[in-house]
Amino acid sequence: MVRRRPLPRGQLYFEPVKTAQDLVETLVGHRAREGEQVAKFEQACAATFGAGNVIALPHARVALSMLLEHYRFRPGSEVILSPVTIADVVNVILEHGLVPRFVDLGARTCSVDVECLENAVTRRTCAILVTHLCGLLSDMPSILAIAERRSLVVLEDASQAMGASLNGRYAGTFGAAGFFSLTTLKPMSSFIGGLTLTDDPELARYLRRRNSQLRPVSHRQLAGLFVRDLALHAASSKRTYTRSMHAAVGRAEQYFPNAVREFQRGNLVPWRRRPRAVRRALPAYLFRRFSDAQALMALRALMHLEHDNATRAQLVDTFYRASSPAVRNALPIVPRKAVSTWWRLPLFTHQPDQLKAALHRDGIDTTSTNLICATAERAFASFWRDTPNARQYTNKMLFLPMHPNLTPAEIGAMARYVEAHQDFLATGAEAA
Ligand SMILES: Cc1ncc(COP(=O)(O)O)c(C=O)c1O
Repeated sequence: MVRRRPLPRGQLYFEPVKTAQDLVETLVGHRAREGEQVAKFEQACAATFGAGNVIALPHARVALSMLLEHYRFRPGSEVILSPVTIADVVNVILEHGLVPRFVDLGARTCSVDVECLENAVTRRTCAILVTHLCGLLSDMPSILAIAERRSLVVLEDASQAMGASLNGRYAGTFGAAGFFSLTTLKPMSSFIGGLTLTDDPELARYLRRRNSQLRPVSHRQLAGLFVRDLALHAASSKRTYTRSMHAAVGRAEQYFPNAVREFQRGNLVPWRRRPRAVRRALPAYLFRRFSDAQALMALRALMHLEHDNATRAQLVDTFYRASSPAVRNALPIVPRKAVSTWWRLPLFTHQPDQLKAALHRDGIDTTSTNLICATAERAFASFWRDTPNARQYTNKMLFLPMHPNLTPAEIGAMARYVEAHQDFLATGAEAA
């Protein structure tokens, strides 16, 4: 049984026509003073997420770099984080003379294991960097309690969880500061970008000052990013994703897996080799001031963020209800009482390649995470810790298609296809 129309792995949150209009309006129209739309966007985000201050920065990783600059932790101090992240997050920590102290995820979760975290705190620990994955909130009450007891600064990487909340409090606003990534794959996107949330006025002043020193993103760069996202959108939109494209993706992944991985990260020139994890300083080209054109795009996305988040949550609920206990056991454990936004729909498997191939034959394209498990990377070998759950997350997790434009019927069909291949899923015992 094969789907007549295949489902692509990950659709962008990108509206080509409206984005083109935004670009023309801000780049050609000279309608407003540059920075006006950025200020509007920051205020709208502050109201939406209930943060005292919101500052738009070039990237999530640049936001982290500026936060560490501000805190000036003593060199050699330790930052606790889960190893499931992007390599540059670890690089930024190292660049600031700090030591990453990796702790495992909880079994079958997308969140750091709180007990491991508490055991990892030493006299040298200065901060905890919490990464919320897939739209599922980490256990913030427990983490904040540990931080308070040990006088630690809590920072949140909420790049994958914008809009996730607990008791009306949003991801990114629990700690001293939080940040989002606004890259195109994210539900609120602006080609590239980072958003920092903080209630600390002094920190906010520092970030604004640093931001004002940056060169603005150039018109040429914006035009290039538009073309890049147009290409990614054409390759991944449900409307344009045909059976022959699906077959081509399967072939490409078989013969050029790294090129496909880079393409879905937005690097369209796969022959420029980019090692997966490498110790280096953040390159200067990442430090470009967020522009009005990007702010207009992100503002529009902000208007339907809540609706999109709720739609994905409903779709996951449909999937869950249509699934047998064996499939449910392969889904992550959901944080209690929290509102999850399900940016991704992960499945824990024990044979990811076989499940991927079987679902591909059925017409469902899947992907593994773009993040690394830092404890499995040679570049970070000197900070090695045994983190089996994090390794399982990056090696044995498959993401099913998940986007607000999927229909309940498509989700129901997806559940039936997964059910048919349940032998490849992790059993509850394995996953735990
Ligand atoms: C968890 C997480 N952190 C950081 C980033 C990096 O974001 P940026 O490219 O804005 O630096 C990403 C991007 O996908 C992410 O998923």
